[in-house]
Amino acid sequence: MATAVVRISAEMIRARKGGVPIVSLTAYTYPIARLLDDHVDLLLVGDSVAMVLHGHKTTLGASLEMMIAHGQAVMRGSARACVVVDMPAGSYETSAAQAVASARRIVEETGCQAVKLEGGVDVAGQIAAIVAAGIPVMGHIGLQPQSVEKDGGYKIKGRTPENVAALLRDADAVEKAGAFSLVIEGTIETVAAELTRRVAIPTIGIGASSDCDGQILVIDDMVGLTVDRVPKFVKEYADLRSVVTEAAARYAAEVRSRTFPGPGHVFSNDKDKA
Ligand code: KIV
Repeated sequence: MATAVVRISAEMIRARKGGVPIVSLTAYTYPIARLLDDHVDLLLVGDSVAMVLHGHKTTLGASLEMMIAHGQAVMRGSARACVVVDMPAGSYETSAAQAVASARRIVEETGCQAVKLEGGVDVAGQIAAIVAAGIPVMGHIGLQPQSVEKDGGYKIKGRTPENVAALLRDADAVEKAGAFSLVIEGTIETVAAELTRRVAIPTIGIGASSDCDGQILVIDDMVGLTVDRVPKFVKEYADLRSVVTEAAARYAAEVRSRTFPGPGHVFSNDKDKA
């Protein structure tokens, strides 16, 4: 008899503080969720989907509808991982009521385990309100992609004492507001390690430190599918750019020479199945 798969909850992730590192990747589609589900603890439907799959210049191209559609696809493809869906820019900043309404829509329409939003002290009220509504929240501090236009680009955080103090305040505020975990992005290694020691919730690093309680990468970066600039913090574990371009070149040559489709890919009698 097959044993039922138990879905990892946000509370199970919270309990992993200081334990075996939490393995996380982004996922945006059904097939990728199917392939990753057995290997990761957490799948993030990141608003990076706007750049990675939709070709926008920044994550500001993500909408609530886009996040919900990709959240639904990932939930269909995963049975085990804790699935977290990003709240896109414009869906939570105005008020706690707006944040709760958007988070409710995401959870009710996708069935995901939690939502993530960017910010520290500035969004602590929103985090507390979403948590009070019964929805687990993952925080995100350090480099915040939704603020790159305001920040004048992708700037590494924690380089000045003032900025380190601001990061400490942000981490404290997110923890106090009730988040179950905290993404630390693009932050000086020693500062990310200090933030990890400081808070009692697990930290998930990206361009941060191996001392974080877990790590996350964007799936397309990690498998070498990113066609634009690959950030320094990315390690490419595969080269799918070459696999895809070589396959496309071979297919093109075979179509032009009429060697595809060959006998194995055409129907010769009425017993052949598709
Ligand atoms: O949107 C995203 O992919 C993210 C991760 C990089 C943490 O927020």
